[in-house]
Amino acid sequence: PVSVEYINKLPKAELHLHIEGSLEPEFMFELAQRNNVKIPYNSVEEVRAAYKFHNLQSFLDIYYAGASVLLKREDFAELLLHYARRAHQDGVVHAEFFFDPQTHTDRGLPFELVFEGLRDGMAIANKELGMTFKIILSFLRHLSEEAAFATLEAAKPFLDRIDGVGLDSSELGNPPEKFARVFAAAKELGLPRVAHAGEEGPPAYIWDSLKLLDVCRVDHGVATSKDPELYEHIIKTQMPLTTCPCSNVSLRVFNDFKDLNVIELLRAGVCVTINSDDPAYFGGYISKNFEVLEAVGMTAEEAAKMAKNSFTASWLDEESKARWS
Ligand code: HPA
Ligand code: ZN
Repeated sequence: PVSVEYINKLPKAELHLHIEGSLEPEFMFELAQRNNVKIPYNSVEEVRAAYKFHNLQSFLDIYYAGASVLLKREDFAELLLHYARRAHQDGVVHAEFFFDPQTHTDRGLPFELVFEGLRDGMAIANKELGMTFKIILSFLRHLSEEAAFATLEAAKPFLDRIDGVGLDSSELGNPPEKFARVFAAAKELGLPRVAHAGEEGPPAYIWDSLKLLDVCRVDHGVATSKDPELYEHIIKTQMPLTTCPCSNVSLRVFNDFKDLNVIELLRAGVCVTINSDDPAYFGGYISKNFEVLEAVGMTAEEAAKMAKNSFTASWLDEESKARWS
C-alpha cells in the first residue's frame, strides 16, 4: 500500500484549482459576517450538508452563490493564503490556479481589486512557504463571447502578471467554438491557453479545444477514453490532462471511485496529472485525490510518475522543473 506520508512528501505542482473553490465553509461564514452578506445557511454544518451534487450544474449554482461573500481585496488575499497553507501540507510546491473574474465583476467588484488581492496572497505565501504560482484567467463559458472579450479587455493593464487563460463553468451546450475568437485574441497577446473539456462533454469538445483553442493542457479530459482516435492522439502528442478524481465522483461524472479511468489512462501512456479542482466542495485537497486512487490500485511508482508529470505539464522554466522532478 502507498502511505499518506509517501503521498504528502512527493513534491507536486497543482495545475487545476479554482481559487473560488477553495473557499471553506468556515471562512465563508466568517466573511459573510464580516462583510454583512446574507447566505442561505445558518451554520457551517448546513453549508456542508448542501454539498451533495448530482451533476456539474448543481455544484456551480452553490459555488457561485458561495463566492458572493468575497468583497474586499484582503478577502481574496486570505482566500489564496488559506489555500496555499493547506496545499503546502500536501506537498504542493507550485500552483497554477484559475480565477473567475466574471463571478466578481458581475457583482460590481473591480477586476483590479480581485487581481491585486490574489497577488497579495501569492506574495505572502511565497515568503512564508516558498511556494510559487501562476495565475490563469478563466472565462465563464455559460456567458457570452462578448462578455469574455470584455473580460480580456479588463485584464489588459495586468497582462504582464497573468500567465494564461482558461475556460470553465457549464460545459454541455457551451462548446469550445463559442470562444474560438477570444482564444485567438489571447494567443495574439502571447497568453498560453487551457480549457475544461471532456468532463461532462463529449470527446468532440476535446478535439475542438485542441484544434480551435490551441490549448497546451486539457482540464479533466477524461472523455478521451471514449474515442480511440483521440486517445491515440493524446498519447502520441503527450498532451497533459489535469484530472480531478474527487471532483469526478462528487459531480457524478463517474459513479464510484472504482469506475474512474485515471489509472487506465496513465497505464496507456497518457500524461496524467492529479488535482483537486474545488477542494472545499469535493472533499479533499491534492493528497486526498491521490489516496482515493490508491484504493483502486495505484502503485507508489504511479503516484510518483503523476507527481512528476505535474512539473512536466507546468509552465515552470526548465531549471525549476529539473529541481522538483
Ligand atoms: N468544471 C467546470 N467549471 C468549474 C469547475 C469544474 O470542475 N469548477 C469550477 N468551475
Ligand atoms: Zn475545474
